[in-house]
Amino acid sequence: MTFMKYKTLFHSIAIAAALTLAMDGSAAAQDATGRYTPTPENLKARAEFQDNKFGIFLHWGIYSMPGQGEWYMNNAGIDRSEYEKLASGFYPSRFNAAEWVAAIKASGARYICITSRHHDGFSMFDTRYSDFDIVDATPFGRDVIKEIADECHRQGIKLHFYYSHLDWRRDDYPQGHTGRNSGRPEGHGDWPSYFQFMNNQLTELLTNYGPIGAIWFDGFWDQPADFDWQTDEQYALIHRLQPSCLIGNNHHRNINPGEDIQIFERDQPGENTAGYSGQDISSLPLETCQTMNGMWGYKIQDQNYKSAKELIHYLVRTAGKNANLLLNIGPQPNGELPATAVQRLREIGEWMDNYGETIYGTRGGDIAPRPWGATTRKGNRLFVHILDLADDGLYLPLESTVKDAKMFIDGTPVKFRQEKGGGVLLKLPKVPDEIDYVIELTLKQ
Ligand code: GLC
Repeated sequence: MTFMKYKTLFHSIAIAAALTLAMDGSAAAQDATGRYTPTPENLKARAEFQDNKFGIFLHWGIYSMPGQGEWYMNNAGIDRSEYEKLASGFYPSRFNAAEWVAAIKASGARYICITSRHHDGFSMFDTRYSDFDIVDATPFGRDVIKEIADECHRQGIKLHFYYSHLDWRRDDYPQGHTGRNSGRPEGHGDWPSYFQFMNNQLTELLTNYGPIGAIWFDGFWDQPADFDWQTDEQYALIHRLQPSCLIGNNHHRNINPGEDIQIFERDQPGENTAGYSGQDISSLPLETCQTMNGMWGYKIQDQNYKSAKELIHYLVRTAGKNANLLLNIGPQPNGELPATAVQRLREIGEWMDNYGETIYGTRGGDIAPRPWGATTRKGNRLFVHILDLADDGLYLPLESTVKDAKMFIDGTPVKFRQEKGGGVLLKLPKVPDEIDYVIELTLKQ
């Protein structure tokens, strides 16, 4: 038995003991029939998640080195033994977790979701269950996830972990639709072994990095629809270790028992321009993930960044759909966030400094997003976000009665007329030309 295997065996025993304690010590997240009942702290975390509204997604791994996005290994058909060599050259010399977290916080984002392990199977944290990780396989040798976690806790921003359900490199991950050219033998797979591996890693992630806001799964679509991922058991493990940790799964399907948030990829709930979103909209807190440029992982030639105005509009419309926005950045192989991304963070932050109150803590407003804009609501305050209107009049088909209308930014009164047939007509002080012209209505109920 190699030293590594001893290390693993010893650690499995330690984790089994910790799990037993966790199981005994916390309120059961599953009832006798195995049905999932969220704990009070989980429900509280869901509401806080919804209130936070805006997060930054980080796709960072050794795939940042070739600079062709996180799917490069699969798309270019790279053999795993060649791909692995990237690790021995990974030295992000300019990485500074404090700077990353500060730049992200400045945007007004209230959480960070970072890839702990993506489809290429490389772990960005110090795991005992594989040597293909940042501490064992790179000259950098630092647990960047730990550094980011410590900074998030220090600077007061929530941390979520992206975790891939699929793996293009391991023999024990059952052969799926993707990762076919990585050099594994045809028909490979040992599900019990892989399932144990994932659960061991999830246990590390939920034990060694402080409170974690969410685990963000991805990859179900790699297997046939009837594949049994044993999520009941895996989700229960997560909820036992950290009851307030929310579980989301980017499976593009209807939600499964045990999930606490519902994820949409590159589309707002109810839309399907990217082709990933035929699923029903559930009553769980919703989150849409979207890229700042075109790719998740760093792509060297992709400078196609959306403008600050486009990004703010996307955030506002997402909030109007009652969902959070998880906006992605692909950090560079040298450890820096791309300069344009940092600039966008700053621009969004300046807007959030003024208008955050119309976003944080709100829910989708009475009128679903329209071509002219969107509405968000907090108590009896309805924020009308006018994003694109070449007129100074706006009719709102509102059911409730308006008591008062003013410009959110400076309290200037806005004329309004309650219409006989229902709804209200706003007479704006001018034709809007701001990024977002926000009118605050006070409703009777
Ligand atoms: C897709 C991609 C993945 C990316 C994710 C982010 O599922 O496979 O690379 O991480 O979307 O939403």
